[in-house]
Amino acid sequence: MSQPTGSTRLAAVIGDPVRHSLSPLLHNTAFAALDLDWVYVALEVGAGHTAEALEAMRTLGIAGLSVTMPHKEAAAAACDELSPDAAALRAVNCVVNDGGRLIGHNTDGDGFIAAIDAELGFDPRGRRCVVLGAGGAARSIGLALARSGASQIAVINRTAERAQQAAELFGEVALVVSGGPEASVIAESDLIVNATSVGMSTSATDGEAAEFPFDLELIGNHHTVVDIVYRPLLTPLLAHAQARGARTANGVAMLTHQAAIAFTLWTGQAAPIEAMTAAVSASLVD
Ligand code: ATR
Repeated sequence: MSQPTGSTRLAAVIGDPVRHSLSPLLHNTAFAALDLDWVYVALEVGAGHTAEALEAMRTLGIAGLSVTMPHKEAAAAACDELSPDAAALRAVNCVVNDGGRLIGHNTDGDGFIAAIDAELGFDPRGRRCVVLGAGGAARSIGLALARSGASQIAVINRTAERAQQAAELFGEVALVVSGGPEASVIAESDLIVNATSVGMSTSATDGEAAEFPFDLELIGNHHTVVDIVYRPLLTPLLAHAQARGARTANGVAMLTHQAAIAFTLWTGQAAPIEAMTAAVSASLVD
């Protein structure tokens, strides 16, 4: 497919800011790899205009929509139907236009599970997990870990009240660790996920690791450590974890796999993960 034609199908991301989104690269790479007559663009839509954007999706016949900050919650309210994850999280990151009926999904959690499987061969079943953060990303990851059979999900967050709210979503396996987290919970865990923005846009040598809410010396070679941040590729947390012999993954795989799930929801086809990963990795070289 070289040029868009009269029958080209349109997908897009709405957000603000959106100009640095990697979603156009991921999806256009995938469309090209499978020779699909689709095109994906970034649309800057300000806060407060989510419902109008979704109405425009119907009017314009946009087939698939990615939803990012600040629209995820409002999109959940504006869709006609929600997937179980989107309903539980009250947040939508992917909309399917089914003949004018808008179906909201949240592919972050499944994307995370697929990413740690593909990248690290990690199966959460029966494993003890620590989730740092309680925002949208942390909630989608914790919910997916709980559904995948994790035996414990310890939530650590700067704001204790939000940690409590997130834990309620995860059910019986959740444990809130606030105000001086117990060292044993960290030391005895299998998986540590940083789902906060701490460490973003700083190099691994900036010493920002001091901001982490537990002693990084507790990380050992039995740990799997995942940082959902991908700018930089090597965050302070991952650098420390690698130095201590832990297995690590950055946010590239989660980004790619959540997009791959959206791609399949829109097109009905398996996503070309390798081509997508290669494209996004090349664009993120530090
Ligand atoms: P997202 O939807 O991307 O997860 P969010 O809802 O704003 O974004 O959540 C950001 C997370 O990073 C929160 O857990 C936030 O902690 P609070 O709930 O206390 O706000 C966490 N976070 C952001 N900056 C932080 C910092 N400097 N130190 C500790 N936690 C931080």
